[in-house]
Formats: sequence, structure tokens, C-alpha cells
Amino acid sequence: MGSVVLEEVTKRFGDTVAVDDLSLEVRDEEFLVLVGPSGCGKSTALRMIAGLDDPTDGVVRIDGRIVNHVEPKDRDVAMVFQDYALYPHMTVRRNVEFPLRTRSMDRDERQRVVTEAAETLGLGEFLDRKPAQLSGGQRQRVALARAIVRRPEAFLMDEPLSNLDAKLRVATRTELVELQRRLGTTVVYVTHDQVEAMTMGSRIAILNEGALEQIGPPPEIYRRPASVFVARFIGSPPMNTAAGPVRGEPGALRVVLPGGEIALTPHDSRTVAGSGCSEIVVGIRPEHVTVNDAKDGATADGAAGDASGIPASVLSVEALGYERHVICRLDDGTTMIARISTDGPEPPAHSAVRLGFDTARLHFFDPATTRRIDG
Ligand SMILES: Nc1ncnc2c1ncn2[C@@H]1O[C@H](COP(=O)(O)OP(=O)(O)OP(=O)(O)O)[C@@H](O)[C@H]1O
Ligand SMILES: [Mg+2]
Repeated sequence: MGSVVLEEVTKRFGDTVAVDDLSLEVRDEEFLVLVGPSGCGKSTALRMIAGLDDPTDGVVRIDGRIVNHVEPKDRDVAMVFQDYALYPHMTVRRNVEFPLRTRSMDRDERQRVVTEAAETLGLGEFLDRKPAQLSGGQRQRVALARAIVRRPEAFLMDEPLSNLDAKLRVATRTELVELQRRLGTTVVYVTHDQVEAMTMGSRIAILNEGALEQIGPPPEIYRRPASVFVARFIGSPPMNTAAGPVRGEPGALRVVLPGGEIALTPHDSRTVAGSGCSEIVVGIRPEHVTVNDAKDGATADGAAGDASGIPASVLSVEALGYERHVICRLDDGTTMIARISTDGPEPPAHSAVRLGFDTARLHFFDPATTRRIDG
């Protein structure tokens, strides 16, 4: 029960391809997050599941049944929008009760269901207020309560937390995931916020220009991004990437970057050699870059380093209290960011440094396809 499947779904608005040949399975009782930059087709994908937009091509299934020609109200999904869409003239109770009014449910039963949903979401004391008398977070919960009472096969949520302030958003994030576990329903959750995606999704699907880049559990996406796009979209600060030609023997390759070379591990050398690429895109997460003294190679936090690495100049340092982001520039203008601890002195802006790379943690991509090269 409750699976949602898109099969080769395309949606065009005139010349705009909003969703491009998208195939996706949301498993029953799964919390799947659809994430991607503004305009990548997330809302359109969700609206096609809800029945608010018709696919130009392809098939939508809910719980195994093809629903392309099923009216939104008969699809047994509940959609929660960013702006909640509450009825301003109705009390909280009436808002939550609203979807039940069209069903043949007697008054007592309706009251019971509404009270239960209100208790679940901590809205018991607000039942007689109007939406205008509630905070943003409380309104959000009313919208959720209204979705819950329908006991749908699936919840479809389009950026439901984006109107909340940062603190409330974090709290509501946890509540939503907890609620989904308790109810055991399928959720398709749209956001452009990678932190929301990483923390809420049992799997996340990353869209780029209407097409699926990658789908998988968050840790896997972080460890093995399938493309340059995913590598740079997930992670903050984003993964550093630089392109360069490959030199050396198949078992001992080097990548030539502006100002220096990186020696690959024997395993990576074989992987890259196997791809046949003579030029590759190298990716390295900021936490795997060290900032070393330009002369003796000591790291910024005082540990002894080595004098190899790539010369760079420090553009600026963002001190976040718990860590520092050192934004550097290579000889050719490529930006590289290192994420380092707050121990030791801060590398001064405009100083010359050498960047060290944890070569066991490199990622490789084919510059022609931008897809990951894997061994
Ligand atoms: N009704 C419409 N008519 C024409 N173009 C549309 C329509 N709805 C969406 N689009 C276009 O389709 C593309 C995808 O839009 P969509 O709303 O799905 O993006 P999104 O990923 O939800 O973005 P955001 O994060 O900004 O909400 C965009 O280029 C948008 O301009
Ligand atoms: Mg949208």
C-alpha cells in the first residue's frame, strides 16, 4: 500500500521541459525527499502525483494503480503546501475537519478524529482560534493535521517548512519525521534545502533541469555522488572540483592541476586508467583539504605537514565558531575551500599557503559526461 511510482514522466509547458523523462519509485512507508535548485521541476513532479498537473508523457501510479486519469480528490493523497492554504474564516477545528465533511462520517466520529489529530500535533488548546491568531509554526501544524485526518496513502509536501524561522524549522523537521514513523505513511517531500534533504529523507532524489541525477540514502549520496552536479549540490561548503590532464603509468597516475600535481593511490590510478579519460575532474570535500604553511608545510592548526601540495592564496576565512572555512584561490583562479578546526592561528587573508589533499578521499568524474568514474 502507498507506493508512488513515476514511469518515464515528462511535463512540458510550451517550450519549457519542466520534468524530463523522470522515473522514480517511492516505496510504501518511505520518506523520500525530492531536492534540487529552484526551477528544476520539483513542484511540477509533485503536482503530477497529486493530479494538479497532467503529464505530457509517461505514467503515474499510486499503490500500483495508474492514476493519470484519476481526479485529484480520488487519488487518496494529501498535499501540504508551503503557504498552508488554510481557510482564514474558519477555526482550527473547522479547518482540520474540512476534508472529512465530504465523507459519510457522523459528527461524533469526526470530532474524535479531529481531536486525535490535534493532540498528535499539539494543537489541542488552539482548536477554537482562527489561523490569523496562530504563529507560522502552529499554522503549519494545522495544515498537517488537516492532511492527517484523511489517512491518505501518501503525503505530498511542497517546502512545508520554508515559512518558519530557522529554529522552528529544525524542531518541526524532527517532528515531521517522527510523525511519519508513527503514522507509517509514505511521504514525498520537496525542498531546495540540502540540510532538510539529508536529515529527513530515508532516501533522497536529486533533480537537475527536470531530470533525475541520483537517488539513494543520504550517506551514500554524500560518499559517492554520481555526478559533478550532485557532488557540488550536496555538502556545505560544496565539494571542490578542478579539471586537469592525467599523466604517468596506469598504476601510478598523477593529475595536473594549476600550480602542481596530485598523485593518485594505486587503486584510484587503476580506476582512472580504466575509464580511458585523458583529462578528469577531481573532486575533494573541504574537510579533506589541509591548509599548510607555504614554506615548511606545517598545517594551520600546528600539526607537522609536508611541503608538497598545491600553492594557493587565502582569499578569506569564515570563522563559524566550531570550524573555519578557508577560501583559497589557485594560480589559475580556481577556488578551493578547506574546512579546518579552530585550533591554532587563523591563516591570514592574502597569505600564501600550500593546500594538502587527503588522496584517499578523492572523487573522479568524466569531464565529457560529468558522471562519476568508479572502480
Ligand atoms: N504553469 C506553468 N507554466 C509554464 N511554466 C511553468 C509552469 N509551472 C512551472 N513552470 C516551469 O517549469 C519549470 C519547473 O518549475 P517547478 O515549479 O516545478 O520548479 P521547482 O523545482 O519547484 O522550483 P522552486 O524551488 O523555485 O519552487 C520552471 O522552469 C518553471 O518556470
Ligand atoms: Mg517549487
